[in-house]
Amino acid sequence: MPEASSPVSPAAAPAPRVFSGIQPTADSFHLGNYLGALRQWVSLQDTHETFYCVVDLHAITVEHDPELLRRRTRLSVAQLIAMGVDPDRATLFVQSHVPEHAELAWVLGCITGFGEASRMTQFKDKSSKQGASGTSVGLFTYPVLQAADILLYTPDPGSAVLRVPVGEDQRQHLELTRTLAQRFNHRFGETFVAPEAHIPEGAAKITDLQEPDAKMSKSASSPQGIIDVLEEPGPMRKKIMRAVTDTGTEVVYDEEKKAGVTNLLRIYSALDGTSVPDLEAKYAGSGYGQFKKDLAEVVLGTFTPIRERTAALLDDPAELDRILGKGAERAGAVAARTMEIVRERVGFVGRGR
Ligand code: TYM
Repeated sequence: MPEASSPVSPAAAPAPRVFSGIQPTADSFHLGNYLGALRQWVSLQDTHETFYCVVDLHAITVEHDPELLRRRTRLSVAQLIAMGVDPDRATLFVQSHVPEHAELAWVLGCITGFGEASRMTQFKDKSSKQGASGTSVGLFTYPVLQAADILLYTPDPGSAVLRVPVGEDQRQHLELTRTLAQRFNHRFGETFVAPEAHIPEGAAKITDLQEPDAKMSKSASSPQGIIDVLEEPGPMRKKIMRAVTDTGTEVVYDEEKKAGVTNLLRIYSALDGTSVPDLEAKYAGSGYGQFKKDLAEVVLGTFTPIRERTAALLDDPAELDRILGKGAERAGAVAARTMEIVRERVGFVGRGR
């Protein structure tokens, strides 16, 4: 495999940076992950210097099975490559391979207010479901680790852009990251660029097929509510045909009165490129059946090649590990540089040689 090629020539200004992460907590990514974030990961490679991370440290903030985590981490990497993340252009790596993530999280945790962390809505949702005894301190500090993930890849001066492609549900974590970047700079001197959330229009929040008011979610949705990227065609078609709509018959976009149909229209439009008004016109008078049938084919048209490529990539785990080794090396070099500055700014004594 050739060496990493930068999307811009060395003489030009450095390309703006992108960082994003995904948890290896399921046997497949789902349609919300794909439309909310992963599709943007792929397209941003053309114009940005990209860092993409499978966040296994985040995955252990809830109880987990070690063998399953290992399997799902490789499976995540395979799916990302199958979707179009190109390890020659993007730095694709596993979070635990770069220990600076945990180190910077500690430093940032020390400038995060307890009240500030307590206001994170994802923590409040998850911890209220699990109860105090089932909630780990790691889950509480999860957003601080996320801030560290992002800020380690703060760009060099001259390229003051750090974009983070994510779905709508990550907006609050991104706000906290910006706050922590600015607070650190204020206390210890200009160090971090405040990152910008890169949230897609239209597909920022894909909802559950069975509960169209709730987010499609690995942890909260029932299997019938989720469209998995790796799903077989038969069950996929069935799920889409059974998606909750309403007692009407019209294929019309209306978030309040027709949340189910609206979600399906958004998915169709995002995958196929046809605008929502054009879809409404196309299915005027034809009822939900034909609309759902066609949508299932559109989804399968996108996901079938990804499913096949993922299976092929998993046949060669040594190659996946080699790719991850390279990714860790490249990410580690950037992270080490940032941490060296952070240690100095914070007042740690440099290690003697
Ligand atoms: P995770 O693994 O839950 O989700 C990965 C990405 O998928 C997006 N997403 C959705 N987008 C639209 N509709 C949905 N129903 C939907 N469900 C999930 C998420 O917004 C996310 O972009 N905290 C992050 C992982 C993380 C991270 C980071 C992200 C750790 N460190 C640093 C960015 C930068 C998370 O839970 O992702």
